[in-house]
Amino acid sequence: MGEVLERPDIEVTEFFGMVTVSDEMREFFELVERVARTDAPALIRGETGTGKELVASAIHQMSPRAEGPFQVLNCATLTPELLASELFGHRKGSFTGAHKDRDGLFKLADGGTVFLDEIAELPTDLQARLLRVLQEGTFSPVGQTESIEVDVRLISATHQSLRDAVDRGEFREDLMYRIRVVPLFLPRLADRDGDVEALLWHFIDEMNPSYPRDITGVQDRVMEAMLEYDWPGNVRELRNVIQHAFIVGQGPVLELSDLTPELRGEPPPNQSAETMTEKDLERKRILKALDEANGKKGEAADLLDMSRTTLWRKMKEHKISE
Ligand SMILES: Nc1ncnc2c1ncn2[C@@H]1O[C@H](COP(=O)(O)OP(=O)(O)OP(=O)(O)O)[C@@H](O)[C@H]1O
Ligand SMILES: [Mg+2]
Repeated sequence: MGEVLERPDIEVTEFFGMVTVSDEMREFFELVERVARTDAPALIRGETGTGKELVASAIHQMSPRAEGPFQVLNCATLTPELLASELFGHRKGSFTGAHKDRDGLFKLADGGTVFLDEIAELPTDLQARLLRVLQEGTFSPVGQTESIEVDVRLISATHQSLRDAVDRGEFREDLMYRIRVVPLFLPRLADRDGDVEALLWHFIDEMNPSYPRDITGVQDRVMEAMLEYDWPGNVRELRNVIQHAFIVGQGPVLELSDLTPELRGEPPPNQSAETMTEKDLERKRILKALDEANGKKGEAADLLDMSRTTLWRKMKEHKISE
C-alpha cells in the first residue's frame, strides 16, 4: 500500500488568508503591499481560483482607505442593463422595475475601494462611463443627467489578457492603460514551488476539527498524484479535493481512493480510455457524414462505406436522433 507520509514541519507565510512557501508568491505579496500604500488603480491577473479576490481585499485592508467601504462586483454575471444600474445606480422609473431610487456600487464605495472582477466582460458603453469615473471622479446614475462626485479607488481583475481584448476590439485601449497602472500577476498553483504540499497540509489542518475524520498522514502515491496534477482550478480546486477526501474517505490516512478521478488519472469506470476515444471518433464521423449528406441517410451511409441498416443501428447506439 506504499508509504505513509507524516506532516512535515513547514514554515508558511500567511498573508490576508493566503498561504504560501514559494519565493515567487512572497515577492508578489511584497509588491501587493507597496501597491496598497498608494491610491493607484491595480489590475490583478490570474487564472480561476488563484486568489484574485483575496488579493483585492488585502490591498484594500492595507490601504489608507481601509476604514472605508469595500464593494465587489463580477462584471460577467449581469446583463448590460443590470450592470449599469448596479454600478451607477438608477432613478425611480428609469426602466421597468425601477420602483425607487437606488444607489450604485460607486456611490456605496465612496471613500473606499471598488473591486471589479472579470473587467474584460464590461460592455463598451459602460467602459466609457468607467473611464469617466477614473478621469473625473464623476458619473450619472441611470435616468439622471446631473452627475455625482465620488472618491473611489478601483481594483480590477481578469483571467484573460486585456491586451488581447483590446486587439479584438472588445476593450478600450485608453481604459486598459488607466486600470492597469500596476499589473499584478498571480502565478498558477502548479507554478508555485512547494505550495501544493504546503496547502495540502494547511487545508488538512483547517478541516480536521470540523469533520469526523482526523487525517494525520498522506499516502505517498497521493502526494505523487497531487504533484503531477496540473490544477486548472488552482487553490480553490485543491481545497475542494481535500474537502472531498474528508467527506468520502475514512481513517487517518489520506488514500488514493479518496481522490477525484481526475487526480487519480483514471478514465470513468468500465470504459478504457482507448475504446472511449474510438467511440468518440466514430460518433464524430457519423455526424459529419450526416451533415455532408444533408441528413439523407442513404447518402451518409455511402460516404461512410456502410449499409443503411448499419448506419441506423450505429445512430441508435450513439444516441444520434434522426
Ligand atoms: N494562497 C491561498 N491560501 C489559502 N487559500 C487560498 C489561497 N488562494 C486562494 N485560496 C482559497 O481559494 C478560494 C478562491 O480564491 P479567490 O476567490 O480569491 O480566487 P479568484 O482568483 O478570485 O477566483 P475566480 O477567478 O474563480 O473568481 C478562496 O476562497 C480561498 O479559500
Ligand atoms: Mg474571483
